[in-house]
Amino acid sequence: MNLIIINKNNNKKETANIRKLNLNDFEMVQKLQDISLENLKRKDFCVELTKDELKAILTEGRGFTYGVFVDNNLISFYSVLFPNEEEYLGKDMGLTKDNMNISANLEITHTLSNYQGNKFQKVLCELCLEEIKKNYSHIRYIMATIAPQNYSSMASTLCYGVYAFVLKNKYNDLKRYILLRDLESNFNLDENTLKVVLGDDLVLQKELFSKNYVIHKIFIENNETKFKMSKLKS
Ligand SMILES: CC(C)(COP(=O)(O)OP(=O)(O)OC[C@H]1O[C@@H](n2cnc3c(N)ncnc32)[C@H](O)[C@@H]1OP(=O)(O)O)[C@@H](O)C(=O)NCCC(=O)NCCS
Repeated sequence: MNLIIINKNNNKKETANIRKLNLNDFEMVQKLQDISLENLKRKDFCVELTKDELKAILTEGRGFTYGVFVDNNLISFYSVLFPNEEEYLGKDMGLTKDNMNISANLEITHTLSNYQGNKFQKVLCELCLEEIKKNYSHIRYIMATIAPQNYSSMASTLCYGVYAFVLKNKYNDLKRYILLRDLESNFNLDENTLKVVLGDDLVLQKELFSKNYVIHKIFIENNETKFKMSKLKS
């Protein structure tokens, strides 16, 4: 798959191509993670994956990863992980352990800073969801964690019907939304319960989560990032 993209360093158009990665790509993936983490303004947005964790997402059966290349250089990747007990996010949302084997985590994504703004997270998330539906049809639940105020990540995930259900402390006390999509039955929002909440008002969001509201939409209004939160129809 080829894409025309913009390199922010020189504002020029470039051609990128997307392919599935494997263990031979491990070093490129690790290098991209290192550069991306070093450039992060908010270090709490992203937890570093260990070598073993990076190998897992490149190993058939444990997960899979799509990468974007310009001139054979990896500039972005997006990974899905089939979780073990420790990695399973269902337990944070009250799903039983029985559902672990039918769950997949949208695990990690990095894009080099000069290529951000090309919507790679969105494009690669869609590819990964298609791959799950096609080749892993036993998977029912899609889950993810996202740091508060990582708005581009929220935008690129909420748009696929993966909604935030709870805000918890994870990964050694970092705040994370836990997101879920049920591929078997789309969530129906109760329009009558709609509330608009500031993106950084975590206190109000927590209160609404406790009343069974979910975050399902992000938007900018008057230069402020806001979320739409609603209850689900039962
Ligand atoms: C997260 C990351 C991959 C996203 O990069 P990207 O795909 O280039 O994202 P974009 O800049 O194109 O933004 C995606 C969307 O977020 C939207 N967005 C960005 N900031 C927003 C805000 N404050 N409010 C609402 N929407 C916002 C953009 O408008 C865009 O939506 P659109 O496609 O409808 O226009 C990249 O920023 C990155 O590598 N970050 C560091 C690592 C990281 O945080 N990874 C995620 C956790 S593992």
